[in-house]
Amino acid sequence: MKNKNEQTNIEELIKKAMEMLEFSYAPYSNFHVGAALLGADNKIYTGCNIENASYPCGICAERTAMSKAISEGKKSFSKIAIAGSSDQICTPCGLCRQFMYEFAPDLTVLCSDDKGNFTEKKLNAFLPDGFGPESL
Ligand code: THU
Repeated sequence: MKNKNEQTNIEELIKKAMEMLEFSYAPYSNFHVGAALLGADNKIYTGCNIENASYPCGICAERTAMSKAISEGKKSFSKIAIAGSSDQICTPCGLCRQFMYEFAPDLTVLCSDDKGNFTEKKLNAFLPDGFGPESL
């Protein structure tokens, strides 16, 4: 059973991730993604995917959100919500799994569809035996 604060956190993160779909720039894939990341400071950092005419230059919503936070000096995170613009629950891509593992191997990942239906898993379920700073 989750306490009330944690449940509020989860609902708010998913709502914020869905709100970010509006800012997603995805003219090539037409697949819009929003993310909302909860920092240890209890602040929420949001992001969206940003595509580019030179396709590999595009960045995912999760890395946008986490990069915003890191560039403000934050390196500790507890949860991220990811919302996709389709009726399928949007899971993080491989690059994002690795990127997030560097800073938050214990991250809780909430994956949602465009209606707010979601799953909750730990990052290590998406990236078992991850390679991180302690591996070097
Ligand atoms: N995308 C994300 O932003 N996050 C994910 O975890 C999955 C994929 C974006 C990248 C690209 O702009 C679009 O979705 C289609 O792959």
